[in-house]
Amino acid sequence: MSKRLIGGFLPLHLTADRHINNNVWAFWGVNDDNSLRLHNARSCLHYLLTANKVKRLWLPAYICDSLVSAVDNTNTELHYYPLTSKLSPRCDFLHDYLQAGDYVLAINYFGKNPDPDFLHLVNERRDIVWLEDRAQALSPATSTWGDWIIYSPRKVLGVADGGILVAAQTSCSLPNIIATSLTEPDFVVPALLRFEDHDEIHNQVWYEHYQISEQQMRVSSKSMSQLTQTLLAMINPAKLCQQRQSNYRLLAQAFADIAFIDDLEPNFVPLGFPIQLRSADQLWQGLCKQQIFAQRHWLNLPSPADQFSVEHQLSRELITIPCDHRYQAQDMQYIIEVLKKLL
Ligand SMILES: Cc1ncc(COP(=O)(O)O)c(C=O)c1O
Repeated sequence: MSKRLIGGFLPLHLTADRHINNNVWAFWGVNDDNSLRLHNARSCLHYLLTANKVKRLWLPAYICDSLVSAVDNTNTELHYYPLTSKLSPRCDFLHDYLQAGDYVLAINYFGKNPDPDFLHLVNERRDIVWLEDRAQALSPATSTWGDWIIYSPRKVLGVADGGILVAAQTSCSLPNIIATSLTEPDFVVPALLRFEDHDEIHNQVWYEHYQISEQQMRVSSKSMSQLTQTLLAMINPAKLCQQRQSNYRLLAQAFADIAFIDDLEPNFVPLGFPIQLRSADQLWQGLCKQQIFAQRHWLNLPSPADQFSVEHQLSRELITIPCDHRYQAQDMQYIIEVLKKLL
């Protein structure tokens, strides 16, 4: 019998069954056998590139700069590929430039799967390894298209950390790394401070902690925290998905003219409601003054601006209006009123 610690102060009694079928693990089809679970998603990508000795990785030119750090200290050549003005991968380009054995990552932007043309290319080019980035997708409309799937649950569920790499094909073998346990608790602080601030009056404090914590995120072999793993086993995503979709519908009806995504009735679960306009900066500042904090996905692209003007223009013109599961219809009405005044 193994010897264990007896006594001392009680640990948090958060228990959950990883095997029940209405939690995030089951919803995403993630289990111990098909996944690697680390402190963040960039680490998952890094170890995949290293373990599989990947020669060339193609990333979309519209991407957050933190994911790019996955390529540091690998022998992988990084290339960017262009997107259309609606953020669909440019299939004509990929068709001409991809070579057998290349790895290509594509993002389900704002929660939505890429266009059918791209999915067709994925089916056609089985000599390529396709990475499906679901960091923004709580639940895309169609089934998995990637050979590998990447999740970053804190972007869609507010947990403190975590990155998940799922082998979606039986032929994919997971990087064989031993994840180390987390010993520094700082990363939990922003989530906890925000959680404890029931009346949301100390946003300056928790937002500062959040920024520091995000800046300190690095590629490492640290494991996903037990706290996040347990919380993901306790969250039932079905209601959250419905709430996101119904909130999105209200914004889409009110702002069809500036909606970035054409679907007014989303069959995917949206990250937020992206709008596109020339005066995005000005609007963003106006919203901040009204305490509506919209995200800019992403203001600083790592791809060269002179080669990817379409993507850099989108970076200046897109704003993601919050419509996630925290909010109800009356919150959307408030956002609509404020936005209409500012536009
Ligand atoms: C689309 C996308 N994929 C992956 C990542 C990397 O996730 P993580 O911060 O968990 O490393 C990010 C980070 O912002 C992202 O926006």
